Amino acid sequence: MKKSNFIVLLCLACCFNSFAQNTPLLREDNIEEVLNAMTIEEKVNLLVGGPGSLVPGAAGYTREIARLGIPMTVLADGPAGLRIQPKREGTDQTFYCTGFPTSTLLASSWDPELVETVTTAMGNEVLEYGVDVLLAPGMNLHRNPLCGRNFEYYSEDPLLSGKMAAAYVRGIQKNGVGTSIKHFAANNQEINRLENDARVGNRALRELYLKNFEIAVKEGKPWTVMSSYNKLNGEYTQQKYGLLTTVLRDEWGFDGIVMTDWGVKDNTVKSAKSGNDLMEWGKQVEIDRILAAVNSGEISQEELDRNVRNMLNYIVKTPHFRKYNYSNKPDLKAHAAVARKAAEESIILLKNEGDALPLQGNEKVALYGICSVDFVGIGTGSGWVNTEHIANLQEAMTEAGFTLDENLAEYYRLCYATQSTTDKMNGSAIDKRHRQEPAISVQAIERQAADNDVAVFVVGRIAGEGADRVVPDDFELTAIEREMLQTISLNYHKAGKRVVVVLNIVGVVETASWKHLVDAIVLPWAPGQEGAYAVADILKGKVNPSGKLPMTFPVNYMDIPSSRNFPYTWDMTKGRKGDRKNVDYTDYAEDIWVGYRYFQTNHEVSYPFGYGLSYTTFSYSKPKVKANKDGFTASITVTNTGKVKGREVVELYVAAPAGGLEKPARELKVFAKTKLLAPGESETLTMKVSAYEQASFNEEHSAWETAAGTYEVLFGASVADIRCTTTCKLKAQSWKVHDVLGNPEK
Ligand code: BGC
Repeated sequence: MKKSNFIVLLCLACCFNSFAQNTPLLREDNIEEVLNAMTIEEKVNLLVGGPGSLVPGAAGYTREIARLGIPMTVLADGPAGLRIQPKREGTDQTFYCTGFPTSTLLASSWDPELVETVTTAMGNEVLEYGVDVLLAPGMNLHRNPLCGRNFEYYSEDPLLSGKMAAAYVRGIQKNGVGTSIKHFAANNQEINRLENDARVGNRALRELYLKNFEIAVKEGKPWTVMSSYNKLNGEYTQQKYGLLTTVLRDEWGFDGIVMTDWGVKDNTVKSAKSGNDLMEWGKQVEIDRILAAVNSGEISQEELDRNVRNMLNYIVKTPHFRKYNYSNKPDLKAHAAVARKAAEESIILLKNEGDALPLQGNEKVALYGICSVDFVGIGTGSGWVNTEHIANLQEAMTEAGFTLDENLAEYYRLCYATQSTTDKMNGSAIDKRHRQEPAISVQAIERQAADNDVAVFVVGRIAGEGADRVVPDDFELTAIEREMLQTISLNYHKAGKRVVVVLNIVGVVETASWKHLVDAIVLPWAPGQEGAYAVADILKGKVNPSGKLPMTFPVNYMDIPSSRNFPYTWDMTKGRKGDRKNVDYTDYAEDIWVGYRYFQTNHEVSYPFGYGLSYTTFSYSKPKVKANKDGFTASITVTNTGKVKGREVVELYVAAPAGGLEKPARELKVFAKTKLLAPGESETLTMKVSAYEQASFNEEHSAWETAAGTYEVLFGASVADIRCTTTCKLKAQSWKVHDVLGNPEK
């Protein structure tokens, strides 16, 4: 080689080396350096999700930038467990996940510690299957029982919902993987879910629809938040700076990333500017739009860097960044046990006339209802989980030692076997909500009443993402269900035998018109893959139910204030785009009067918020309340006064003094659940409520305010069953916030 050539090569090698040395690889402590080393194209790429195949069945990915040591990260659905494909090409290995109890059942436990235990196990599956973020919890409020995704959500009450979500987040994130609390915000219906404009006043927003997110952000510290598809007061939530930046980050201190729900909106630039860091699932057009806007200056360098910095801060926390060597072999057996225990601790006993339950266990049982076989473990849509098996009540009751009427059991098995796949409750199809209950003749029921000791009728309902439920034949019983219940009730009661209903449902159903026909009602909701075993154990008395309702069961659908503004009857063909009430827009005209906030003073209900029976009884001591400079601390002693072990939930409500804003008669402020108390055993529960938690939102002042005066502090077994009351004095205080959420169009 000529000397001059050698010198040129040496220079090139030196240049390359120094270039490589100047290309930092991402570390936790060099985020600014990496940010500075990124090209504009790389920055924009990081803000838009991309394709991937690392974990088949995962919902989305973030893009890899190998040059800078930025790995791809994986996002997959929850909330009842991880949703990935159970089978993969080229291997016999399976990738099933545990189907835990759905969120509504978890909320019925009123036990955040239990929820944290459940999600600690769930998060281990997220980690061991190579996923970085679980797209959960879903936490929109149960504004109306017909919302098709209510089973993915917790409650009509923001405090219960927020506490459950915070516990959920803590459990998952303990595993070093992330959560995405969703759908932020006011995503309370599925009809026209991509476009619907939720028109909500600021008080209802702050006190209800944002309150639960506020609690989850402050107490759970989720890595990510998912903005919703819908609009809020005229703007898409993903394009609402006031919501995503002013409220979420500046007021609540959120420091993670915001990602969109799974679709492309027209104004990607506005989404990015508003503080929506990541566009999912991510399309080239979004990259093009952001890039053009950065180049034209419409998106400033600061705005771009702010979002990219958030992304880098997220990425350094992920297992893929840590190069975690996931096993693809979580301990599904251990997690099944967690799922079963969680269902046991959460199932609600709604009725138990004459101590109809528990059964002895040696009875011969006529088990009715197609859902005794086609048991509803989880709802459909993205909230579905690919479990290896979902136990049904036939097998669970048999395992618990009951003798089933075998002819009847076989009849339902045959009906199930001849259903088409989409007819089956647990298929992920969402078009067929629930199948016809196969009719059973009066003569057959008469015979069965003579042959069996007790009738158990499983009433099932399924729903999920993409459609809301309807009133006839869904919220209400179908004609066949009603007729069967009447005939069963008549014949079994004539023979001196008991009738039990198991409500295996994904959302509230009407109960007032038929509950008198039966002796007992057990409500397991959709209890996950092991829930049927928990139901059998409760029927048998092996487990004493301790769940309580996280929402109100109204007498009639139309009693619910939001029923006047919910699209339970609608016609997509009517009206021009943007004009269709409850489809294009929904007026949250009921304001804060949602659930028990309305019913407690205004209307009779079938079962009140917070209600649930036990096989034992509890007494409440005289409570103690001690005011401090930041609110009060209350304590009360609960004693098991019955004959079997049990747990009790104590719900603390506060009634504010008159004057100031109009307020609900009482509002839930804190709650606590005892440990398993033996007969005669007591436990003192101590609960804290801060002054801020007692404030109401004054729209005029854009401030949280507590009125000065004497507050009644009520200790209830439900909102309607207050066992003892005391008082506490509070001074006036206020906390000003930003008026940035817009106003509902009148
Ligand atoms: C749902 C989200 C889900 C996402 C990814 C969307 O359609 O609304 O809840 O996380 O899909 O599957």
